Amino acid sequence: MARKKSFRKDDFLNFPNAFKEDHEKKGKWKEYFGNDYPLILELGCGKGELSFGLAEICPDRNFIGLDLKSDRLWVAAQRAAEAGLKNLAYQRLDIGQLTDFFAVGEVDGIWITFPDPYPKSKRAPRRLTHYRFLSQYAEILKPGGVIEFKTDNFELFEWSREHFLACGLTLDHLTYDLHHSELLTPETGIKTYYEQRFLKMGMKINYVRFTLEGLHEPPPDSDSDEIQSPV
Ligand SMILES: C[S@@+](CC[C@H](N)C(=O)[O-])C[C@H]1O[C@@H](n2cnc3c(N)ncnc32)[C@H](O)[C@@H]1O
Repeated sequence: MARKKSFRKDDFLNFPNAFKEDHEKKGKWKEYFGNDYPLILELGCGKGELSFGLAEICPDRNFIGLDLKSDRLWVAAQRAAEAGLKNLAYQRLDIGQLTDFFAVGEVDGIWITFPDPYPKSKRAPRRLTHYRFLSQYAEILKPGGVIEFKTDNFELFEWSREHFLACGLTLDHLTYDLHHSELLTPETGIKTYYEQRFLKMGMKINYVRFTLEGLHEPPPDSDSDEIQSPV
């Protein structure tokens, strides 16, 4: 297992659609894809089931899956290369450094899929839905660019919902049970690896879609609550 992981880490860059902390692509993703199609990112994509599914059903959009773990990205890149998907790439990077790899307004949409919840209060700034990250997304997203967020974790979802409101955002498209909701579409219905596991366990999937219009820093201490378990 460890050997397989190590092989995948080393082999990842051998795929033509795979990159590691590639600063030279910043502002030049249109040149890489060879067209002007909208660019959509999947943050913390793991093995990339969502970005793969989206790239298959939306050939007039480009997708990049991003993750810290190149052994997981290897699985994603191999599958995309085998399928011959030209509108899909993967890059190893830390989401905290997103603005080093994408130019201002270069991105049209962002998916956040089943991110690590970081339940302890002092780790709230590590949540991918924290203002610290939202302000970075605001830099690389075009005005009106849409963020979509999916999680099984009710506590993270509720914390994020309240945090988004404290940051001045408007949340018109939100559900606590995506797969039995009118927000279910061919795109939102694509199941990630974690999503498949949680659905098998009978859990509901929370989903929200929003823009960053009105984004401002939240009031002090509005992000300090620990994620509370439902009573
Ligand atoms: C719980 S997994 C979810 C994977 C996938 N989205 C899914 O739904 O199956 C969280 C993923 O986020 C990645 N991740 C966590 N923090 C990250 C960071 N700061 N930058 C990039 N990726 C990160 C992890 O490596 C992991 O693959």
